[in-house]
Amino acid sequence: MSLINQIHTVFTKKFGSQPLLVRSPGRINLIGEHTDYNEGFVLPAAIDKYIYLGFAKNATGTCRVYSLDFEEEETFSLNELKPRRGWINFVMGVAAQLLQAGHKLEGFDCVFGGDIPIGAGLSSSAALENGVGLGLSELFELHIEKSDLVRYSQQAEHAFAGVNCGIMDMFASMMGKKDQVIRLDCRSLEHFYFPLELGDFQLLLCNTKVAHTLAESAYNKRREECQEGVNRVKQQFPEVNSLRDVTPQMLEKAKGEMAPLVYQRCAYVIWENERVITTSNALAHDDLEAVGHLLYGSHKGLSEAYEVSCPELDFLVDYTRNLSYVLGARMMGGGFGGCTLNLLKKSATKEFIASITGAYLEKFGLQLETYEVNVAEGTEIVEL
Ligand code: GLA
Repeated sequence: MSLINQIHTVFTKKFGSQPLLVRSPGRINLIGEHTDYNEGFVLPAAIDKYIYLGFAKNATGTCRVYSLDFEEEETFSLNELKPRRGWINFVMGVAAQLLQAGHKLEGFDCVFGGDIPIGAGLSSSAALENGVGLGLSELFELHIEKSDLVRYSQQAEHAFAGVNCGIMDMFASMMGKKDQVIRLDCRSLEHFYFPLELGDFQLLLCNTKVAHTLAESAYNKRREECQEGVNRVKQQFPEVNSLRDVTPQMLEKAKGEMAPLVYQRCAYVIWENERVITTSNALAHDDLEAVGHLLYGSHKGLSEAYEVSCPELDFLVDYTRNLSYVLGARMMGGGFGGCTLNLLKKSATKEFIASITGAYLEKFGLQLETYEVNVAEGTEIVEL
């Protein structure tokens, strides 16, 4: 049975009513890592891995939510929305944001489940938040713009999950378009789509299956370091408000004013923003070799200057370097685990998976998981 059918069946059995159905995708990011919270550029896309959700009103003040994957049910009252532990925060967090923005909600039932691997850096939480936002907006006829729903999802993550994330994940999941990548300006949210035409090549994700505990604290620390850099540059260039405004020349001039580590972090972000622009131009000219080089460049920066990689990610990227059929690879997302993104020849994919899986097992004793992903439509209401 397909996942959407499963959600429907479980919903009607459990709650006895007919649900409204929503499908919400995970995301990849071609390039532009740790640039979103620096008001920079990113190049993400929604992918064909989803969370499916069913919703119905239940005419009470209580919300009942069932996670198919965890086989757990949680309930909460709309009058008492406070962070708890686990997946329910992503549901409650969005409900809280909608209420805070003045929208009227009543009790509802929800069942959800999906095939976005959890903890793999594919933004399953953003997909869930977006699905809840769109589902509740439709269920209660709130007519909320998608761009506002994206903000609510981000704020839910900040307030209920405690991760001070940028806007990229929610934006990509909500606004994705089939076969198109999004070039998003995270300052203005101005964005445009362009086709991802890879010809004989394809994108493949390799899941390290590790999620180092450092991830959350290091993420917030990087944000602080970037802010520190901005403050220092601002002393000489008052017009600067974020690293987006900082040119390499400005950074050099202010270098003496900041700790070497802060300089290193800022330099990475400035060059990564450059790489996003260069990558979109290379894509527009079908220059996939150049895209591949840029992916390696991004990884080097993330690993050596921004220091958010880990031995598993570095190993997987390094492994590809001498393979002529791989054009480029890099770690993807926040770091310290999750997936690498590989751009490789379709005809070599089988061979690649076999050899890298064997090497990874030998090195770390871990079973690599790989996903061939296609670029898909963003969060939407669906029919059975
Ligand atoms: C995580 C965050 C995003 C972004 C990336 C790094 O996925 O949720 O906002 O900062 O890390 O690019």
